[in-house]
Amino acid sequence: MWLQYRANLCLFFLVLISFSIFVVAAGAPLQIRCPIQSLYQLGDSISDTGNVVRLFPIAPSSRRPYGETFPGYPTGRWSDGRLIIDYIALALGLPLLNPYLDKNASFNNGVNFAAAGSTALKSSFFLAKGILPQPVPSLGVQLKWFRKYLKSICSTPTECANKLSRSLVFVGEFGYNDIGFAISQRRSIQEIQNYIPLVTQAVINATREVIKAGASQVIVPGNFPLGCFPYYLFYGASDDPTSYDDLGCLKSVNKLTTFENTGLQGALESLRKEFPNAIILYADYYNAFQSLLREAPTLGFDTTNLLKACCGIEGQYNPLDLGFCGNLLGGRACPNPNVYIHWDGIHLTQEAYRRMSQTLISNLGLNCTQ
Ligand SMILES: *[C@@H]1O[C@H](CO)[C@@H](O)[C@H](O)[C@H]1NC(C)=O
Ligand SMILES: *[C@@H]1O[C@H](CO)[C@@H](O)[C@H](O)[C@H]1NC(C)=O
Repeated sequence: MWLQYRANLCLFFLVLISFSIFVVAAGAPLQIRCPIQSLYQLGDSISDTGNVVRLFPIAPSSRRPYGETFPGYPTGRWSDGRLIIDYIALALGLPLLNPYLDKNASFNNGVNFAAAGSTALKSSFFLAKGILPQPVPSLGVQLKWFRKYLKSICSTPTECANKLSRSLVFVGEFGYNDIGFAISQRRSIQEIQNYIPLVTQAVINATREVIKAGASQVIVPGNFPLGCFPYYLFYGASDDPTSYDDLGCLKSVNKLTTFENTGLQGALESLRKEFPNAIILYADYYNAFQSLLREAPTLGFDTTNLLKACCGIEGQYNPLDLGFCGNLLGGRACPNPNVYIHWDGIHLTQEAYRRMSQTLISNLGLNCTQ
């Protein structure tokens, strides 16, 4: 009895010791430090609050019904309303981020460099493979904008580090379009998987640059389960029921984004060792979306339309095609976007982004207003 007790006690201390080692080894806390004075975003249409419409004034997001829920007119956001980055700004107690290309805007609380259609890899990479990307600023171009912006606010490395010391930088999500363009151009899953490590490298390189410039808190989001998105369900439609999971999503496409996310998390772990004083967090968009989809019936979403776009052409998934939503060719929005997860087949509704943001803000400790 005593022996056993002693053994248990030993085990207890052993666990206690390994636990402390674990805590020490984990280093920097897994939460950001409040207050945050400025927020920066590099990304694609998931976070573009108005850059691409300033380059292409005829982009679909420049027209109704984009923006119909918030602010009531199109702003260039690719949704009926707010995006994840808008909810993050609110949680941090900051004004909504202005797009870099809005020359009249205030950038006192940060800048949004995100551009719809942006890839992590250069356009030339895709062109060489015969995959046509969108002619929009890729991650590399957004980094140039970031450097230019920094030059405008500080002139020495110390001064820049000071300016960025109370900032939070979102690098991504990226990878959506690096995968998406290839899928819509009927490339094989294997071909795409082969270059995903390069996508991750590009994201890590960008994160490293941002940290070296002086940012000490960065969040790198992973990719969504794109196999649950109407546009990819449409392009990957299969007669074989085993191609779909229990939620009706395409397994092959979800495996691809899971592959990207796993690689990214591993690479972030190495980056944390490279910069032990920086707070480098992974934002789990994949699981935030999956739990939204699973819990949708209890969250007030219309369960008959969970994989259908609110705005699109009639069909099994109502996917957006060639910009049908907000296009003169047709594609009207559903009467109540609040009960839909998917907005135009590629992007989510404000309500879906709001629910996902609640999960992310709580998991990452992003609430600085309390
Ligand atoms: C900037 O502001 C001025 C004055 O309010 C306005 O006339 C102009 O259209 C604005 N420019 C842009 C690009 O929004
Ligand atoms: C990332 O940076 C390394 C080192 O500078 C470079 O060799 C590599 O090509 C970069 N990768 C990408 C995808 O940009």
